[in-house]
Formats: sequence, C-alpha cells, structure tokens
Amino acid sequence: MIDSVALQKGTLPVRHGTGHMPVLGFGTLIPDAETTIIATRTALEAGFRHFDCAERYRNEREVGEALKMALPTVGITREQIFVTTKLWNTNHRPERVAPACEASMGRLGLTYLDLYLSHTPFAFQPGDEEDPRDSDGNILYDQEVTLPETWGAMEDLVDSGRCRAIGLSDITLDALLPIWQSARIKPAVVQVEAHPYLPETELLEFCKQRDIVFLAFAPLGHGIRPGPLEDPVVLAIAARTGNTPAQVLLAWAVQRGTALLTTPKTAERARENFNISALPEDAIDEIDRIQTRQRFNDVVKTGSPGFIPRGR
Ligand SMILES: NC(=O)c1ccc[n+]([C@@H]2O[C@H](COP(=O)([O-])OP(=O)(O)OC[C@H]3O[C@@H](n4cnc5c(N)ncnc54)[C@H](OP(=O)(O)O)[C@@H]3O)[C@@H](O)[C@H]2O)c1
Repeated sequence: MIDSVALQKGTLPVRHGTGHMPVLGFGTLIPDAETTIIATRTALEAGFRHFDCAERYRNEREVGEALKMALPTVGITREQIFVTTKLWNTNHRPERVAPACEASMGRLGLTYLDLYLSHTPFAFQPGDEEDPRDSDGNILYDQEVTLPETWGAMEDLVDSGRCRAIGLSDITLDALLPIWQSARIKPAVVQVEAHPYLPETELLEFCKQRDIVFLAFAPLGHGIRPGPLEDPVVLAIAARTGNTPAQVLLAWAVQRGTALLTTPKTAERARENFNISALPEDAIDEIDRIQTRQRFNDVVKTGSPGFIPRGR
C-alpha cells in the first residue's frame, strides 16, 4: 500500500515537459478576488505545490499576487511549484494563442508556465466578449478554426520555452484521439471531471498507456449534495478508516493513478484536503463498484463552463 507521505507528496511525470506534476493540485476557480488571495496563500502553506488557473476565472492577477507574497514566507521558489493556466475558447485562432498565453503569464507574474491547456475543445467567436451569444442566448461558435490548428500554435509555445508542457481540458476520448495521432508534440495532460460517479475509466486507461497525466477536476463532485461526498459507501469507509468523506474521495483518486484538483477556501479545509492517507485496497475496490453515474458539469458538451456564473 502507498504510504501517506508518498500520497501527499506524490508526483506524476509530465511527458516532454522537464518536470513532474504534484498529484494534489489546488484549483483557483474562486468567485471573488479577496478569497482567491487568501485561499491560494493558505493552500501553499498547507503544502499544495500545484496551482490550476485559467484566463476565464478572471483572477490570475490575484493568484500571482498571492504566490509572489507567500513563496518566500513558505521558503520555496517558483521552480518548486507547478503552475497551469488555460487558453480560453475565444482565443483559439492561431494568431491569438501566443498573445493570450503571454497575457496570462503577465497577470500571473511568471516567465514560464509548467502547463498550458486549451480550456475546452470548443472555439467561440473571437473578441473581448468571453461568452459570445446571439439574441436568443445561443453560443456563437467560431467555424473558422479547428482544434489541430489551435494545437499547432500551442506547440510553438513549447518550442519557444514559454510553456514546459501542453494539454487539453474538457476533452472526450473521441476528440482526444485525432489530436493524439496528428500532434507533433503529444498532449501531456488531460483535465476532465472525474469522481466515483464519473470514473472515466476508458479515458484513464488510454492516458495510462500513453503516459498522459489524467488530471481530475471536481473530485468531490464540486461539493454538490447529494453527491459523492454523501455516498453511503464513501461515508462507511470514512467512518471505518478515520478519514473525512473528502479525504476518502481524494485518496481514491490518487490511488487509481490520477492527479486531482480541489478548491479548499479555508485553512482547515486546505489541511484536510492535503493531509490524506492511503486507503486499504478493499476500500478502493468498494468505491470502484459504486454504480451511481452523474456528471455535474456539462462544459464538455458545449464549451460553456458549468461552475462559472455567466457574465464572469
Ligand atoms: N477544466 C474545467 O473546465 C474545470 C471545471 C471545473 C473545475 N476546474 C478546476 O478544478 C478545480 C477543482 O474543481 P472543484 O472546485 O469542482 O473541486 P471540488 O473540490 O470537487 O469542489 C469544490 C467544492 O467542494 C467543497 N469542498 C472542498 N473541500 C471540502 C471538504 N474537505 N469537505 C467538504 N466539502 C469540501 C467546497 O466547498 P466550499 O465552497 O464550502 O469551500 C466547494 O464547494 C477548480 O478550482 C478548477 O481549477 C476545471
């Protein structure tokens, strides 16, 4: 069995990047600026070394500010953390990719990114409106650009050293396959919703066979109740092993070979979500046998983010 320190400090190798991704990642999808700063600092203090950002979260500046302030306090350097951000849907045209990446790096105050992801495979009409819609509220997609063209511009970011690795978020196995086959620089990471109600086993197996890091978002089912946090199997294992339900879900995710992102907003929750312990194999098997299936975020179907209020 994996020991608890290995679980907390574990990393997964990132192909074509020079680094390793810490398996426990802190997600910065946080609605307000002040909470972003406090929660980011608190996550760093609790031990998180992997930070997941996005242009679309509109708080890269606050995340950068918090990291700049807290890194010296914690006694570590930029090179000891892993920072990801994401290309938004309105910037898929190749000529918009490098400027979007550089703008994100500028807001984060970084000279390189450990990982740059396309936020979704859907291209929206380019422009300043992040959520372009027609008068009936339908998303205005951009038919003038393909995902392989966007990917080509992202490959250039690796060539120039601005990004150590590139990957895809909110991607299905069907959409990943053609990129995998045609890419000059293969995707290093896929970031998708995953938890016991949406295990994405087929995609995980594909990733494991090709050394792609599978990075799970919403490992707690985004905290939605009822959901995995209240599942009877998870509650029983938590009681039996002396863990909280959140710790059970996070340990399961790591022990099945994924990295994960969670969004604790208080110091107590950050410590809870970082200090996870390995579960016995029979507990992992029990969770694997949960039959409930539920997707909490439909972003993968439309490109419109499920957990971000419209207009942000
Ligand atoms: N690529 C994408 O499209 C995409 C989509 C969604 C998310 N993400 C990334 O993934 C990250 C994580 O996603 P997520 O926020 O959905 O993850 P999550 O950790 O599954 O859900 C966060 C929710 O769980 C609650 N929570 C956190 N720790 C808890 C604990 N120990 N016990 C009980 N409840 C707890 C939080 O509650 P409180 O609010 O009460 O603290 C919050 O409501 C995001 O920040 C973002 O970086 C990416």
